[in-house]
Amino acid sequence: MTESHPVPVTLFVCTTCRHPEDGPEAPRAGARLAAALHAPEGVELREVECLGNCRRGPSVAMVREGGWSYVFGGLDAADGSAVVEGALLLGASADGLMPWRGRPEVLKRGLIARIPPVPGIAA
Ligand code: FES
Repeated sequence: MTESHPVPVTLFVCTTCRHPEDGPEAPRAGARLAAALHAPEGVELREVECLGNCRRGPSVAMVREGGWSYVFGGLDAADGSAVVEGALLLGASADGLMPWRGRPEVLKRGLIARIPPVPGIAA
């Protein structure tokens, strides 16, 4: 796989996350993030309810075939373009890992977990 042939990435955005500073009546920060995301070709956006990272939300997971999966937290609506940038980096990665170099800062400090590829599926 080369950078000229990116692999599609699915972005799961938790729409039920609250920002710690939001009041109970405020629109959910996760829903605001999902609304701010504009997925380009090669990135599929899926809204989900709870990724199990509620205490460190808003949360997003990224999955690609033959590559590592990532969970990020501590995001907000202003991070939509950084999330998309990370998804494109993951999709273009030759080894299935999201490169550290060039990764948006919010996806460096917001890394919650990364999960290896399913065995037997090549990157
Ligand atoms: S409500 Fe968003 S991770 Fe649980």
